[in-house]
Amino acid sequence: MPTILAIESSCDETSAAIIQDSKIVSNVIANQTIHRLYGGVVPELASRAHQQNIVPVVEQALVQANVPKKSLDAIAFTRGPGLLGALLVGVSFAKSMALALQRPLIEVNHMQAHVLAHFIEPPLPSFPFLCLTVSGGHTQIILVKDYLQMEIVGQTQDDAVGEAFDKTAKMLGLSYPGGPLIDRYAKAGNPQAYTFPKVAMPGFDYSFSGIKTAFLNFINKNKQKDTDFIKHNLADLCASMQQTLIQILLEKFQKAALHYQVKEVAIAGGVAANSGLRTQLTELAKKEQWQVYIPAFQYCTDNAAMIAMAAHYKFLAEDFASQEVSALARLPFSAS
Ligand code: KG4
Ligand code: ZN
Repeated sequence: MPTILAIESSCDETSAAIIQDSKIVSNVIANQTIHRLYGGVVPELASRAHQQNIVPVVEQALVQANVPKKSLDAIAFTRGPGLLGALLVGVSFAKSMALALQRPLIEVNHMQAHVLAHFIEPPLPSFPFLCLTVSGGHTQIILVKDYLQMEIVGQTQDDAVGEAFDKTAKMLGLSYPGGPLIDRYAKAGNPQAYTFPKVAMPGFDYSFSGIKTAFLNFINKNKQKDTDFIKHNLADLCASMQQTLIQILLEKFQKAALHYQVKEVAIAGGVAANSGLRTQLTELAKKEQWQVYIPAFQYCTDNAAMIAMAAHYKFLAEDFASQEVSALARLPFSAS
């Protein structure tokens, strides 16, 4: 069984992990707090922070795992989707290290890795299962047929649900990332206090851009009557917005699960850390008699352990990336 170093640098977390004999033996994450000052991720600052963090983060991952560099069988990195400058830091580092050590290189799709986070620790799902993958950049319903065989059966046609959480939080004056703060304030609020419009989308697709505008208009209208409307109603606003987003997510997901007749369901990605979503999916699964899989909090948001898990299966499948310098040029940094 291989020992692999994996690097994640797609957005605002610099992370490195070691997988040995299919077990994660270290997972180091450096969060970039600088973006809080700007209310969202600033790509240029993210690249610079990755550049500063990558060497110490990789060193720490090797030390914690007690693995010398020469024991590594492969080097893996996040190939995309993500921020171009941020991805480049991970790609260049991984490629240089693979060349220096004369080891194969493995490129990993970030969204596929979010799904494979379910195989880091038991209970492990069995195939096929349906995974709702919800992050700051994506919202997908994925039919998972095997470790490396996945089909996107539905997805957002505009904003990701994580973006809807973050942008509405910003409108409420909360800092970035807003998702965890909405989650926290929602606990003290009434989820039925306000209703926000849900856009009907065909098939198993989603749309989250309209709800942001509706929320902004709603707040502005109410501020005309009460200038401290947000302050007086923060918990109810958070609870109602969170509830609307969860309902939109789960209505489509339920429809897809019934259509594909799956018996096992899962959630993945940063928004899978949302306590309301976790509870309500668990309740829905109980009602529908599905087996439900919800990852530990540290494996929901971005981390290199999930990249290492995906790399493990790619290593077994001998799915290696090219070592050619020209291969860098063909690395797609769009949604692939
Ligand atoms: O997967 P992730 O760490 O990065 C991307 O690949 O985008 O997801 C980040 C997203 C952010 O939008 C953040 O607000 C959201 O996950 N998030 C949450 C919670 N924790 C993180 N959203 C709602 N509730 C949470 N508890
Ligand atoms: Zn992610």
